[in-house]
Amino acid sequence: MKLPILSTLVSVAAVVHSVSAQDAPVYVVDPSTGFKFSTVQQKYDPPVNKGDLTMGFAFPKKGAKDEYVGYMVARRQGTPGGAGYTGISHSSGMLKSLLLVAWVNGQDIQTSWRYATKYNPPVKYTGPPPKLTKLATVVNASHYSLTYRCQSCLTWTQGGQAGNLSLSTEAALFSYAQGATAPAKSDNPDASIGMHNSGFGVLPAVVKDAETDDYEKLASTPAKGGVAPAKAPANAAPPAGSAPKASSSASPKASAPAPAKGKGSGTMPPMQSFRRI
Ligand SMILES: *[C@@H]1O[C@H](CO)[C@@H](O)[C@H](O)[C@H]1NC(C)=O
Ligand SMILES: *[C@@H]1O[C@H](CO)[C@@H](O)[C@H](O)[C@H]1NC(C)=O
Repeated sequence: MKLPILSTLVSVAAVVHSVSAQDAPVYVVDPSTGFKFSTVQQKYDPPVNKGDLTMGFAFPKKGAKDEYVGYMVARRQGTPGGAGYTGISHSSGMLKSLLLVAWVNGQDIQTSWRYATKYNPPVKYTGPPPKLTKLATVVNASHYSLTYRCQSCLTWTQGGQAGNLSLSTEAALFSYAQGATAPAKSDNPDASIGMHNSGFGVLPAVVKDAETDDYEKLASTPAKGGVAPAKAPANAAPPAGSAPKASSSASPKASAPAPAKGKGSGTMPPMQSFRRI
């Protein structure tokens, strides 16, 4: 399919790392839920792209709800413990967007809501709390994956600035960034995190490919977690004392915040708001 505007945006990003808008969607089956996700893939390809991410999206039909299901599969990288992080932004850039940051914590995955107004490590998100439900968590020697339901994640507000991501478009532009240094405390959602230094880019979720009639079924999948403990990745030892455990609700209390009032400027944040460091 043709995504003229997107292609232009993406070609800028492609200069620094290989983001590509695929003509045909790449579908990947999440072994934990059995769901076939339409994905955007950023493959480990050093030195161009030191990160590695496959990101799948499932949307309810017609974007009627403020939620989606995400499927994040990332290569473990960094030290210690291969516990570098992956951040997903709910817009095409880092700034003034709801950021979901995830990292390995033993056999579980710690998640954290962040927000940034500057190109500094993001601060805690203090707006109406989104609700993240872990549908499946896998941590093995080389990768971690998190399948999550994200409710009230497409509208946000912090410091009087409201933002949102519409699913009523051709492609919803998410973005990502990875950092190869583990957060200061792997079990603390508020742990300080370092700059992203291991890949970043835009994740165009083509809405018609991500919309599914099976959304409700997928979104209500009972949680599975902590599968297949194994050896540490080649570049790091696993965190001590990790034991498999089922994952449950990740993140802070849930509730349905009132939709943001949308007083942002323009419909799309500037594309290159992730900055190479
Ligand atoms: C680890 O997880 C990744 C991502 O799900 C998968 O591709 C890989 O095969 C798994 N490795 C092992 C040894 O199971
Ligand atoms: C989403 O953001 C746009 C641009 O800032 C704004 O015009 C719109 O009203 C917002 N929509 C919602 C539902 O907040």
